[in-house]
Amino acid sequence: KMKVIRCKNYDECSKAGAEIFSKAIENNPNIILGLATGSSPIGIYKNLVKDYQDGKISFKDVKTYNLDEYVGISRENDQSYYYFMHDNLFNHVDIKEQNVHIPSARGTESEIKAQCNAYNEALKKASIDIQLLGIGGNGHIGFNEPGTSFEQETFVVTLAERTREDNKRFFNSIDEVPTHAITMGIKNIMNAKKVVLVATGANKQEAVKKLLSNEITTSFPASALHMHKDVVVIIDEEAGKML
Ligand code: GLP
Repeated sequence: KMKVIRCKNYDECSKAGAEIFSKAIENNPNIILGLATGSSPIGIYKNLVKDYQDGKISFKDVKTYNLDEYVGISRENDQSYYYFMHDNLFNHVDIKEQNVHIPSARGTESEIKAQCNAYNEALKKASIDIQLLGIGGNGHIGFNEPGTSFEQETFVVTLAERTREDNKRFFNSIDEVPTHAITMGIKNIMNAKKVVLVATGANKQEAVKKLLSNEITTSFPASALHMHKDVVVIIDEEAGKML
């Protein structure tokens, strides 16, 4: 059964989420974290940076694996997830660059496929201790869009229109929003020992309602998490309004 933590607002959710990660890092300095991008985790990363600055935690021996990356966007582009992770977390803590893993999606189609397979192999060996997740308005996790098999491993995905619409606020226009991404599959996500999903704001009301409705269906990818034995869902008042 999913554990639900209900908080007042985004900041409180961020604190609650960061506390889980902070404690886990303290208990296991060699921890392997699965990390996410999007607006949902930013507050968690801010709190983790603060805990690092306060000397509570170190990332010296922490390893990280990110969920996903856009295809066709360079690392230097401020919309790449590579850039996002460095900007919001890695540049501010003592993590070693060789311990940071973000799928790379550069080059020709076959080069991208190869990078995708290599990432999948690395994930199989790594065994993630805690995976952080946001949730898309359509229930996607990582970039596993509705209809994705729960057996799916890391792959190159064509983004749903809803996802491109949701994310266009970060770009000048919809035409600039990538059409493809590399993402961990649902199976990779389910392999994590623990999952922490954070959802806040009015945009997520529908998704949160479906997530907590207990129905398991590939048309709502996050519902796979009902089959995981250790999931914590952190929501704020706005996101929980339809419950
Ligand atoms: C993106 C990411 C997801 C994220 C989702 C929600 O598409 N690939 O990992 O969970 O959007 O984003 P946000 O937290 O900004 O609402």
